[in-house]
Amino acid sequence: MAAQLRGVVAMDGPSGTGKTTVARTLADRFGAGYLDTGAMYRAITLAALRSEVDVSDPDAVTAAAKAAELTVGTAPNVPVALLDGDDVAAEIRGEVVTSSVSAVAAVPAVRDLLVGMQRRIIERVLAERGGIVVEGRDIGTVVAPDAPLKIFLTASADVRAARRLAQDTAAGREANHVDVLRSVDRRDRLDSTRATNPMRPAADAVELDTSDLGIGGVVSSLCELAEQRGMVAERGVTP
Ligand code: DC
Repeated sequence: MAAQLRGVVAMDGPSGTGKTTVARTLADRFGAGYLDTGAMYRAITLAALRSEVDVSDPDAVTAAAKAAELTVGTAPNVPVALLDGDDVAAEIRGEVVTSSVSAVAAVPAVRDLLVGMQRRIIERVLAERGGIVVEGRDIGTVVAPDAPLKIFLTASADVRAARRLAQDTAAGREANHVDVLRSVDRRDRLDSTRATNPMRPAADAVELDTSDLGIGGVVSSLCELAEQRGMVAERGVTP
């Protein structure tokens, strides 16, 4: 019988550590939901850019965030991101949004708004499917501090830049290793030093260095951890 995840897996870490692939694979394997909170910060950044506000002006960014109508999907295999009804799943991954997202994600009122939305989505998916894998930077510390399994993925800067470069190239975006390394470093510095909800591992997070582990290796370790913590049931059976 197929296995089913119960509860929340909180998956945090810097960009390029394999969070998205690992989180999607894990959610898919366990029939669980999946939430990409980075996509939400990216979509709000796009909303601010589309309304031509200065992303370094917190009040203007907050107003744009409040006016935006944001929809994100929770199926692990179908990345859905709608902004005011527009499919923006590809556009939010581009360099324009990527270079401004840390400034927008540092605005406390934007974080309040999105953390509230994220908690409501998690509650809904838990009621519908029983389990969810949530990825971001502050999931274990702020969004879901009671999650029974918290993971903080890391990898060397070179490996992270190489992964980002491969993603950019696959998506048809022009990029080179030096620029991507600089961009990854800059974003991680901004994300981990902001005053509100900085990226950091929760005190009870399991830290995994993915530099030399394939995705399969990371997923296997996480499946084992979820089982050890009693989070895996047979599908259709209520523990
Ligand atoms: O995971 P990502 O690269 O798509 O995230 C984009 C940005 O959003 C990242 O630079 C920091 C921010 N972010 C955040 O501050 N908190 C989260 N929970 C998720 C993302």
